[in-house]
Formats: sequence, C-alpha cells, structure tokens
Amino acid sequence: MKKTLKKAVIAIGVLFIVIQFYRPDRTNPPVDESKVIFATMKVPEKIESILKRSCFDCHSNSTVWPWYSNVAPASWLVIRDANEGRKHLNFSRWGEYSPSKAASMFNEIYEEIEAGRMPFPPYLIMHSDAKLSPEDIQAMLDWAADEQDRIMEGNGGG
Ligand code: HEC
Repeated sequence: MKKTLKKAVIAIGVLFIVIQFYRPDRTNPPVDESKVIFATMKVPEKIESILKRSCFDCHSNSTVWPWYSNVAPASWLVIRDANEGRKHLNFSRWGEYSPSKAASMFNEIYEEIEAGRMPFPPYLIMHSDAKLSPEDIQAMLDWAADEQDRIMEGNGGG
C-alpha cells in the first residue's frame, strides 16, 4: 500500500514536470495608443478604472500575466482566456471598430455584465479585486446603454 502511494506521488510529480514543457506563448501584442478605447472616445474615470481593473487582462493587449501563468496547467487556461477574450473584444483595438460594431459591442457588454458572465467568474478566484460591486455593475450598464444610444443616434436610426 505504502509503496503504491509512493509510486503514485512520483508519477504525479513526473507528469507535473513533463507538462511544464508544453508552453503556449504568453503574448502582449504591441499597443497602438491611438486605437485604445480611451484615445478614441471620452470614457468616464470610474469606467476607465473598472475596465483596467476587471477586463483588461483578457480584453486588451496589456495583459498583466499572473505568476501562475508560468505554471502548467493553470497557464494553459489563463493564456487561452486572454487569447479568446481578445478575439471577442479588444479594448486596445477599439479604434478599428466601425460604429455598428462598437454599438453591438456595447450591447454585448451590457448583456454579459447584466447576466454576471463577465468578468469571467473563474478569474475572480485569483483576482478578487476585479470583482464588480453593485455600483460598478450599475455604472457599467448605464455607460454601455448610453454609448450604444449615442452611436445609434449618430447613425440616424435607432
Ligand atoms: C479571465 C478573462 C476575462 C476577463 C477578466 C473578462 N473577460 Fe470577457 N470574455 C472572456 C472570454 C474568454 C470571452 C469569450 C468566450 C465567452 O463568451 O465566454 C469573453 C467574452 C466577452 C464578451 C462577448 C463578446 C462577444 O463578441 O460576444 C464581452 C462583451 C465581454 N467578454 C466583456 C467583458 C467585460 C466588460 C469585462 C470586464 C468587466 C470582461 N469581459 C472580463 C474572458 C474574460
């Protein structure tokens, strides 16, 4: 029994070491400051701080990689979330969005936050500071709704 346990521990240790060799790249693609959302539109200070604190690790090119992003298998999940998140919504490339794309993004932001799906819940286990307070949630919903309306009006239709 004792021997089996020892073997199991060794096997797990070896497996842990082996998986460290599979290292997907942690990327921070270059940021064109003129395309970052804060350069393309006026964003209230409170919203800016919420975005940077709670969304930027997965929805910008300015990801601050946590220490466990060096350790497999956690690293695989963290890197996948950032790559996936950026693909869907990238605040560093907001300037590339057409007005209709931006409007639909605001709509998505509203829906995701209202449903409690963002910030991505597993992320909050290690980043409790990214959790949104009820006031943060309200501020984000108001902002997303107002900006969506503004774009729709600018386009001459609702
Ligand atoms: C830990 C990473 C992570 C964080 C932090 C995070 N997201 Fe996401 N987000 C994702 C991933 C991954 C997806 C795509 C997969 C999905 O929809 O579940 C996504 C999808 C979205 C979408 C859907 C876009 C579309 O095209 O459908 C919106 C909107 C969104 N996030 C907004 C936010 C906002 C706003 C915040 C901050 C309050 C935030 N997210 C924080 C990882 C994250």
